[in-house]
Amino acid sequence: MSNTHTDIDSLLLNALSWAREAGAIHMRYFRSDNLDIKSKFNDSDIVTAADKAAESLLISRIKDTYPDHSILSEESGETHHSDDYRWVIDPLDGTTNFSSGLPLFSVSIGIEHRGETIMGVVFAPYLNEMFHAVKGKGAYLNGNPIHTAETDNMAHAVVATGFPVDKNINPDNNMDNLERVLPLVRGVRRLGSAAIDLCYVAAGFLSAYWELNLHPWDVSAGLLIVSEAGAKYTHFRNDRNISVIAGCPKIHDCMVPLLSTEPRT
Ligand code: IPD
Ligand code: CA
Ligand code: CA
Repeated sequence: MSNTHTDIDSLLLNALSWAREAGAIHMRYFRSDNLDIKSKFNDSDIVTAADKAAESLLISRIKDTYPDHSILSEESGETHHSDDYRWVIDPLDGTTNFSSGLPLFSVSIGIEHRGETIMGVVFAPYLNEMFHAVKGKGAYLNGNPIHTAETDNMAHAVVATGFPVDKNINPDNNMDNLERVLPLVRGVRRLGSAAIDLCYVAAGFLSAYWELNLHPWDVSAGLLIVSEAGAKYTHFRNDRNISVIAGCPKIHDCMVPLLSTEPRT
């Protein structure tokens, strides 16, 4: 399949529609008694029946419509068909929030063409917030263009972060970064969905967001959405999976030197 405008239009319509379907699945399980919560790496790393049901829906929609596309999805791993298109999926980002009854969770769908992310869709169903971006065409929230904040003073910045799932056994758990950032900014938030964090930087609701030890499905869609909204991002270290800071340009630049580039021992 070639990367034509027609293909991009139908890819986007499908990604938006399937994100809504996945979100409807989340909502059927949300605050119900049938979450079937299971631990993965440890008690801070969990999966529910909703993660699995949303993932099955997305994978079957992609396979039926685009049988030659590759897929990387959090719970099922990689299915490789061709190097042309790859869907990078987090079927439910924010499972800890979701399993506690907290309403910040999302489905995240990034689409790569020959290794470059060309499209990102993040849908937060409880909030009915649909973010999307197509490379070179800007970023949108519920169809309206969004732009990153113009904050240029750290004392006015509201920023977000997250903490790695191995925080109990690994001293390299982001506390060092938090100690340096916290005194300088108006507030630090821990929203609990990396995809929403990135989209909120894109929309200007947060001035910046950083986290270490993320995975491709957490950030594939969100990093395209932030950059299409005019934000900057930097991978600040390369030894802890994906460790990224995204922010409006001035706050991003103030924060990069505050973040550790080496492990804390
Ligand atoms: C998690 C969320 C969370 C972040 C974790 C991720 P999941 O994804 O994005 O905000 O702090 O690092 O693993 O497990 O809910 O899909
Ligand atoms: Ca995730
Ligand atoms: Ca997930």
